[in-house]
Amino acid sequence: MPEIKKVGVLGCGLMGSGIAQTAATAGFTTVARDVGAPLLEKGRGGILKSLGRLVEKGKLEASARDAASGRLSFTTDLDALRDCDIIIEAVTEDLELKNRLWKELDQLCPGQTIFASNTSSLTIAAMAAATSRPDRFVGLHFFNPVPLMPLVEVVRTVTTSQETFDQAYAFARDLGKEPVTATDSPGFIVNLLLVPYLLDAARALEHGVATTVDLDRAMQLGCGHPMGPLTLLDYIGLDTVVRISEIMFDAYREPRYAAPPLLQRMVVAGFHGRKNGKGFYDYSVDPAVPSDLALGTSVKSER
Ligand code: CAA
Repeated sequence: MPEIKKVGVLGCGLMGSGIAQTAATAGFTTVARDVGAPLLEKGRGGILKSLGRLVEKGKLEASARDAASGRLSFTTDLDALRDCDIIIEAVTEDLELKNRLWKELDQLCPGQTIFASNTSSLTIAAMAAATSRPDRFVGLHFFNPVPLMPLVEVVRTVTTSQETFDQAYAFARDLGKEPVTATDSPGFIVNLLLVPYLLDAARALEHGVATTVDLDRAMQLGCGHPMGPLTLLDYIGLDTVVRISEIMFDAYREPRYAAPPLLQRMVVAGFHGRKNGKGFYDYSVDPAVPSDLALGTSVKSER
């Protein structure tokens, strides 16, 4: 099996930058590619901040941070990924966009390069089929915040060869993660279970079951979750969750994957969660306060 030494990451948003940081910290030469310098700058800033936090908390040596930074480069040029041993794609959940990139890379990269998608909900088979290497295609699904969350879902589609799967699985371990095997069905394991739960929490708020704060507090204190569901929705990004739910609803046609009107309205109104400062909570103040008044959710919030 050819060894993985150089990693390419497509997309330098929340997930892509986390994946690039993780790969560089684990010792891989890593190239992160996005379409514009401002996006790359934002990604680079997030990585430096996260690495700094890990050093501050004593979880990473300063020398390891410097070595990781040294292994990382940023580019807008797709051609810079041509000699990577594995390319992990973490761009917007848009099949057409993803397949445009995969087709270009298919021309640039040698046949043995592994193509891996971090998609949360799209079918791996639909991307593999757009390339001339469906046997070298696999899903590698990471969790936010990538540097901290230990799990990677390694997704085998019908065309994935055993060698590719084994390499991707071993690579996830080499990144310091815990891999699990998932089949290529929309949502894999985690989102299949998590997305209906998150949508139900938004539905419960919409129906006046409890306040934002109490819904979150209940699941944190009653079930030991590190974050309540509305805080987690804000953390993942409301636009992202709505997009994932659309894809899953389209695939399964089950009401539990349909985003409730409140959530859809919030996204249309520009409430995208923590990344733009407003969601179920308003992050323009510290600590964040619930947005119940702005959202018109019926139970009066107490905090
Ligand atoms: N980089 C480095 N360090 C970070 C960090 C980052 N990006 N984010 C947080 N930290 C560190 C903090 O500095 C802090 O360190 P100490 O414990 O040493 O003080 C630690 O992590 C905890 O952070 P906080 O005190 O700020 O907050 P917290 O205790 O709530 O922990 C959390 C943060 C790890 C994110 C935790 O709340 C958590 O596990 N939340 C659930 C996240 C989750 O469910 N993710 C999956 C989302 S689903 C998904 O991603 C897939 C999809 O397809 C939608």
